[in-house]
Amino acid sequence: MIEIQNLTKRYGDLTAVDDVTLTVQPGTVCGFLGPNGAGKSTTLRCLVGLATPTSGTAHIHGRPYHRLVNPAVQVGTMLDASALHPGRTGLEILTQGAIALGVERGRVAEVLDVVGLTKREAKRRAGKYSLGMRQRLGIGHALLGSPSVLILDEPANGLDPAGIRWMRTLLRDFAEQGGSVLLSSHLLHEVQQIADTLAMIGHGRIVAAGTLDELLAAGEELEDMFLTRTAATSREGAL
Ligand SMILES: Nc1ncnc2c1ncn2[C@@H]1O[C@H](COP(=O)(O)OP(=O)(O)O)[C@@H](O)[C@H]1O
Ligand SMILES: [Mg+2]
Repeated sequence: MIEIQNLTKRYGDLTAVDDVTLTVQPGTVCGFLGPNGAGKSTTLRCLVGLATPTSGTAHIHGRPYHRLVNPAVQVGTMLDASALHPGRTGLEILTQGAIALGVERGRVAEVLDVVGLTKREAKRRAGKYSLGMRQRLGIGHALLGSPSVLILDEPANGLDPAGIRWMRTLLRDFAEQGGSVLLSSHLLHEVQQIADTLAMIGHGRIVAAGTLDELLAAGEELEDMFLTRTAATSREGAL
């Protein structure tokens, strides 16, 4: 269970995250949708202790990440798929992760199988992987400790349509076993396929939240709002 309450994070004069409240119940995949610069990564970083909230709370299983017992086993994270060591093979990265987490080495082969990387691919250096393969490896890394919570920042970035369907199935299965998933994306069509609840963020604030069905019922209005905000942000970015 993920519970973010009235979370605000300021960097100097900039309010990156503005009074965000968001709950992800066990058994659900929540898509955190918003244009670049909206505050998604900062929110996720607050959840895993990489950023300190200015005010409000970001809890997992009722407490901040750093107060969890063995947090790396309870919470699987992928905050930046490109951060995986480029000079190591996928197999080495996962093996090292397994050792660090204290899980059996046999888990590495299981995880490779789950994320659909072949033995041959696993023996290549991560620096030679396509973005899609890095995402698979990153998700495999997040799954190593058999966590009950997954926090994934833009995990579908670089995946082709088949890859997105694969991720949908993987995260659905994870949720069906009682897991909670919070994943971010800046693309509506991407989260629409993967998530069952959505929280939309723009300029640090939640602008809409609900089940996918509820939000899709709002239909064009939702899309318009999203597109308008995306356009506004890219204009700002261009200045
Ligand atoms: N460490 C930081 N210092 C200063 N500003 C930051 C920092 N991290 C993020 N920001 C700013 O906070 C805003 C939200 O960024 P971010 O959370 O990365 O958005 P998103 O992930 O939705 O693209 C942006 O304006 C970004 O420039
Ligand atoms: Mg981001």
